[in-house]
Amino acid sequence: MTRTATLTFDGRELKLPVVEGTEGELALDISELRARLGLITLDPGFGNTGACTSAITFIDGEKGILRYRGIPIEQLAEHSTFTETAWLLIHGRLPNGTELALFREQLTRHAALHEAFKHHFEGFLVDAPPMAMLSAMINTLSCFPRRWNSSPAETPEDEFYEEAARLISKVRTIAAYSYRRSMGLPFIYPDPKLPYVANFLHMMFSMPYEQHVASPEVVEALNLILLLHADHEQNCSTSTVRVVGSSQANLFASCAAAVGALWGPLHGGANVAVLEMLAKIHHGGLSADQAIKLAKDSKSGFKLMGFGHRVYKNFDPRAIILKRAADRVLAQLGVNDPLLDVARQLEEKALSDPYFVERKLYPNVDFYSGIIMRAIGIPINMFTVIFAIGRMPGWIAQWSEQHADSKARIARPRQVYVGNQISDYVPIGDRK
Ligand code: SDX
Repeated sequence: MTRTATLTFDGRELKLPVVEGTEGELALDISELRARLGLITLDPGFGNTGACTSAITFIDGEKGILRYRGIPIEQLAEHSTFTETAWLLIHGRLPNGTELALFREQLTRHAALHEAFKHHFEGFLVDAPPMAMLSAMINTLSCFPRRWNSSPAETPEDEFYEEAARLISKVRTIAAYSYRRSMGLPFIYPDPKLPYVANFLHMMFSMPYEQHVASPEVVEALNLILLLHADHEQNCSTSTVRVVGSSQANLFASCAAAVGALWGPLHGGANVAVLEMLAKIHHGGLSADQAIKLAKDSKSGFKLMGFGHRVYKNFDPRAIILKRAADRVLAQLGVNDPLLDVARQLEEKALSDPYFVERKLYPNVDFYSGIIMRAIGIPINMFTVIFAIGRMPGWIAQWSEQHADSKARIARPRQVYVGNQISDYVPIGDRK
């Protein structure tokens, strides 16, 4: 028996069906609202609007819960790897040994880029932001059909899974090449003997005369960061994938658009903004108390970067895992980063300040991730690129889920017009 809510307006009544999710979330189905009552809803930033039903990721913002395909993020962080988690998100279940081995073989097979990409990279200025190159090159992948480097697919589903593996593999190579281009360094080809993360670090840091061998601690830390970023339901960049994909644009175009959305400092760009804020505090440009004071002053335009979240009104579970990992990784690597102390100070002050407590502003995934990336040698202009590599399986899974939904429609929100009412054209000679 479907539960309903009743809306009355202008003497008319409409019963709106209530949709209930498997974790008890409730939503009003308003698809009949305009036709029956001539009304639309208005919800800037979509804070109260569900764009879809989804079976991929569950977040309970009040309780600080995050699960990928039902598995708690804490368990995946402890027992899984980024590549296994990527398969889980895309296929909806954990892979068996054969499936995981095949996926890893696909990732190895697809690691190289067509040589023509080199000329594309050379078109960028040396100091071009890697995020700009990443978005452009992901889009360019749709110009290079897969058939030149793998067996023909048996079914359209195989075709999709092959494209997914191709994109997850190549985003790493594109990212590394974007970094090498920004440093004026020669590109380093992928090494088929290396697993996913170690191969990325090899392409980032090896030299033609000397292969970079990342320590197990660094590989493990980057695996964890990528895994924790792998999906996060309908965030800004994932919603972008769905909006672009809803027009039946291809997977590469949809994910290239998502890179643009992720770049913003309110979203994936926050991990860069956090480090810049911590460094400013550490180097004396700003004290922790001044940062807190500025963040509380809405007129300052200053935000405590890495704090707050649209959904989490409790700790972001990823931030808890990353805070512990920051301790562990820096100790393992013998790194003493004063910015970690600044981050801790800031967190302590904010969490005891009524402004943050009342607004339920807690550290989010971006607050500690940059500290770890810095410690393992990732340059700051690559922080958001790392976020994009991690989020790629989630974007692909969400794009695929939408494409599999026979009821999915092109995204086309309405508006409330508040501009000029009808007026006539005035010839230029008659204008004031
Ligand atoms: C990510 O959506 C996702 O799931 C994203 C993500 C993912 O995995 O995809 O989790 C990754 O993007 C994490 C968020 C990274 N961004 C930042 O750390 C930037 C700093 N945070 C804020 O800009 C903000 O908290 C947002 C953008 C994250 C959320 O913005 P909302 O939901 O629109 O909240 P809001 O701006 O309406 O804030 C509500 C109140 C306001 O104060 P009042 O108007 O009530 O007086 O809280 C204040 C805000 O001014 N506030 C902050 C603040 N965040 C919110 N004040 C100071 N510092 C902050 N960081």
